[in-house]
Amino acid sequence: MNAPLRKVVFPVAGLGTRFLPASKVVAKEMLPVLDKPLIQYAVDEAVDAGADTLVFITSRYKHSIADYFDTAYELEQKLERSGKKELLAAVRNVVPKHVRCVYVTQSEALGLGHAVLCAKPVVGDEPFGVILPDDLIWNRNVGALRQMAQFAPSRDAGVIAVEEVPHDETHKYGIVDAEKTDGRAARVRHVVEKPKPEVAPSNLAIVGRYVLPGKIFELLEKTTPGAGGEIQLTDAIAALLRDGDVYAYRFDGTRFDCGGKAGLVRATLHFAMRDPALADIARAAVAEAAQPN
Ligand code: UTP
Repeated sequence: MNAPLRKVVFPVAGLGTRFLPASKVVAKEMLPVLDKPLIQYAVDEAVDAGADTLVFITSRYKHSIADYFDTAYELEQKLERSGKKELLAAVRNVVPKHVRCVYVTQSEALGLGHAVLCAKPVVGDEPFGVILPDDLIWNRNVGALRQMAQFAPSRDAGVIAVEEVPHDETHKYGIVDAEKTDGRAARVRHVVEKPKPEVAPSNLAIVGRYVLPGKIFELLEKTTPGAGGEIQLTDAIAALLRDGDVYAYRFDGTRFDCGGKAGLVRATLHFAMRDPALADIARAAVAEAAQPN
């Protein structure tokens, strides 16, 4: 495709039960890895991929996400008056000036596929990206979504990020059966949502990045509830495969599944160890915590 992705959708209306009781009032996308919430890492990756329109699919419990991207006049005035320029820039630059945020409410958590369908009136018929902020992907160079957008061979093709997972974890992911290749991208033959390890076609799991054609919306409209009684994006991608190309893309980067405690701990340690002001503290804290009482 080689054109930048203009629109990126962030489905953030899930209930986040793995972080209860905190997620009763704190949207899990607002949980911080050091000083930035998960949603900020996701937005930075979308902007890096060329997005100028960010579409958040939210719920009535997640006002904090819109508040975070809104202007904080009082705070900015205070920081300005006290000459705290760096902090002021950090607060102002959560989204660049040329980027607009659009919020769409998913009135009921009917599944990821349903959440993506809620973006149809904003996205229309053009290719778009999807980022699940739970999956934080760290990268030294080009962000994962930009890698996928650069690869996308046409406006009609789907590109889904994949990663190998342990065989006994296939029931947690959408799993792809892809043609064998030495490169990063492979044509997908078949996808299945959350298969048990005995019936999974591979251990190649779909993770939270997609480049999708506008056509996915009409397929989502026809998708009936699947695994877990939810409208699954994976089922619409299976339908897309029937008359189009879908590629599995092994991105360059390290993924942290921050939808659960283990991933959030790993991500926090990873970023702390890369921060010169925190690396020694993190190392010492881990060593101390590992001591028997
Ligand atoms: P998850 O499977 O992680 O579900 O959703 P969840 O509700 O967020 O979290 P747990 O499992 O209860 O802890 C994957 C992504 O799809 C979004 C979520 O916000 C998350 O980004 N989603 C899921 C929606 O936006 N709407 C839905 O109806 C379901």
